[in-house]
Amino acid sequence: MQQGEIELQDFGPDHIEGAVALSRQENWPHRPQDWQMALQLSSGAVALDDQRRVAGTILVTPYGWDCAMINMVIVDRNARGKGLGRRLMEQAFALAGDRPLRLVATADGMPLYQKLGFVPSGTILQHQGNVVALGAPKGVEVASANDVPNIKALDRDAYGADREALIDALAERGEFALIRRNGAIEAYAVIRPFGRGEVIGPVIAENADDAKALIGFFAAARPGAFLRVDTDSRTGIAGWLAEIGLVHVGGGVAMDRPAKNGLEQARPKVYALANQALG
Ligand SMILES: CC(C)(COP(=O)(O)OP(=O)(O)OC[C@H]1O[C@@H](n2cnc3c(N)ncnc32)[C@H](O)[C@@H]1OP(=O)(O)O)[C@@H](O)C(=O)NCCC(=O)NCCS
Repeated sequence: MQQGEIELQDFGPDHIEGAVALSRQENWPHRPQDWQMALQLSSGAVALDDQRRVAGTILVTPYGWDCAMINMVIVDRNARGKGLGRRLMEQAFALAGDRPLRLVATADGMPLYQKLGFVPSGTILQHQGNVVALGAPKGVEVASANDVPNIKALDRDAYGADREALIDALAERGEFALIRRNGAIEAYAVIRPFGRGEVIGPVIAENADDAKALIGFFAAARPGAFLRVDTDSRTGIAGWLAEIGLVHVGGGVAMDRPAKNGLEQARPKVYALANQALG
């Protein structure tokens, strides 16, 4: 395949089948529905080869005007090392406009992102497995539609960006739980179908005990189910996740562009990501 024969186009629903083939090639668990949700929230580009096959993908997920996540960056194995990853990233920069950028890098992606000015800001740990049987924690309740505006406000404060569209997309597919004290929502979490089972995230909480109670609430209702949680290493909940059957299987490096002022800029109330792609 010659570099010159590869053309970039807007990522549309017709490209999902080809995108799923690429993510399967990488052993990523994304189903067509997972790509669909990501595309619903994003704009992006595909690289098409001379047979009109999808040879590369990239998505840009804006969170209002506050920031954008770059995700689902994949180049077909046969087309690597010829500048296509860089071309896709340049297209993503154009789509993101002036927004500060975030991403979670694999080892493959790190050299490219570093060359483009991304700076590490944390370590993301991917935990998953068949959850052990747990007792239901006290003090957690199922959220209702009336809670969504307050959940959005809590999320914005904790994440530092407007994720309303993400929360609406999660509400279409997932189940929300929360901790309410003195009438105010102090913590929330979502579970939704993803990949091989379900993913729990975002989890936003004041402290690790509340985060564990929320995760435990979903886990207790699903003994033996395959669950995934992506957490920043600084949350301190990784050991507990392993104890309940969600073992560390990998992860990535959180990166920002432009660089934030050091690692203390981490978001301390974010106990789990929506997933590595969406942040
Ligand atoms: C990451 C990935 C998209 C890069 O695609 P690519 O088309 O090979 O990248 P490019 O050819 O445009 O390379 C871009 C730059 O990064 C460098 N680079 C890429 N991979 C590298 C590696 N493994 N080691 C060192 N440098 C590397 C290239 O030398 C190039 O530098 P240059 O532009 O200064 O010449 C591709 O390896 C891939 O799809 N990997 C699997 C999926 C994945 O992990 N994606 C990242 C998700 S966060």
